[in-house]
Amino acid sequence: MNLPPHLTVRDGHLFIGDHDTVALAAEYGTPLYVTDEERVRARYREYRDALCAHYDRVQVLYAAKANGNLALLKILASEGAGADVFSAGECALALQAGMDSARLLFNGSSKSRADLRLAAEHGIRVSLDSLDELRALEDVAGALGRTVEVSFRVNPALEVPTHPKIATGLASSKFGIPHGEVVDAYRAALACDHVRPIGLHCHIGSQILALAPFVEAARVMVRLAGEVTALGAALEFLDLGGGLGIPYRHDEEIAPSPREYADAVMPVFVEGVEALGIRPALWVEPGRSLVADSTVLLTHVNSTKAAHRHFVNVDAGFNQLIRPAMYDAYHEVVVANCADEPSAGTYTVAGPICESGDILAADRSLPAVREGDLVAVLDAGAYGFAMASQYNARPRAAELLVRGPDRALMRRAETIDDLTGTQAPPPWL
Ligand code: LLP
Repeated sequence: MNLPPHLTVRDGHLFIGDHDTVALAAEYGTPLYVTDEERVRARYREYRDALCAHYDRVQVLYAAKANGNLALLKILASEGAGADVFSAGECALALQAGMDSARLLFNGSSKSRADLRLAAEHGIRVSLDSLDELRALEDVAGALGRTVEVSFRVNPALEVPTHPKIATGLASSKFGIPHGEVVDAYRAALACDHVRPIGLHCHIGSQILALAPFVEAARVMVRLAGEVTALGAALEFLDLGGGLGIPYRHDEEIAPSPREYADAVMPVFVEGVEALGIRPALWVEPGRSLVADSTVLLTHVNSTKAAHRHFVNVDAGFNQLIRPAMYDAYHEVVVANCADEPSAGTYTVAGPICESGDILAADRSLPAVREGDLVAVLDAGAYGFAMASQYNARPRAAELLVRGPDRALMRRAETIDDLTGTQAPPPWL
């Protein structure tokens, strides 16, 4: 199987960076997420360099929803990243990681007045998703005596080749303002006293392996940039969102590199804004393509069972990684303690959750698997821990960071006490 450079097989064991996953699992227990710091840095730099080769006003905003671990945000902050934040919690994490509020964009299709107040208080720009939100922000910012800089989230009505649950720019999607109505929204914002429209924002979907939809979105955005500039607005940024996919099927899929993405999209943007005589900053919001392949989820085999299928029952299920259950997503799996042994049959890796849909990997060709073996689920760094739950009253996993010879827990595993500790049965029980 093709592996990214930070994953290697040495003497039959899967290594992440310099670390033997089998030893890590023995030391820290499972389920365990393990992330390679250098891989995250390398991916970030690839993005930044590819975009900066075309234009000198570029800002990468990491989509914090993909993996909101504070350590990861600190790594990306130290590289110069800002963040796309979608909640007060993500906003707090980004600020705590040391990200400058000028490098944050508060996104979301359903922000509360409290969210808007938080953005106004911290001087964080807001991407508005409706005219209602514009009115609420004008109120909230006015009450604080502040002016908030905003963009509008554009719904470009674009079909994209991805799972329907993660296509976000369809005409039927809940996100954004229909592209035909954005100019009117801009006009309304220009008339506000406490809101200053300076940007346009879109995000067409996630896990997109084709470049054409990104190019098309850039065209729509440049056209709208022309229309709002004609209204007299001074456009300071265009945010093209995230969405670049990764090759989850290592030997079959090919994902465009950040350079290929930049080479396809940037000429449309650069020529477009030059023709308009403006120089807005270019923002992008990658999540998955920055962090997904940096991380493996390690899970021990509790038992195997040759039934109608040959099941490998492991200690992580959709409580730890919901992507296979939720999107039929494919993640490569490796038997980490015998990673160079030949295939011995077709196995289905199943989690411990009380649902038939709790399958991490169906019908995979694997070496002979036995109780006590260690399975590594690859590409688990994006929307892995971030979407984990405590279903079936199972604590969420620990997260470990490795860098060269060093390793440290960046989040401890939850305990049973963490599950019960927030509960307080009423006094009459
Ligand atoms: N910007 C906005 C406004 C977004 O909504 C998203 C993701 C991103 C950026 C980052 O997209 P990325 O580069 O990661 O594709 N849970 C799903 C993915 C949901 C994506 C939601 N929005 C999954 O596991 O596939």
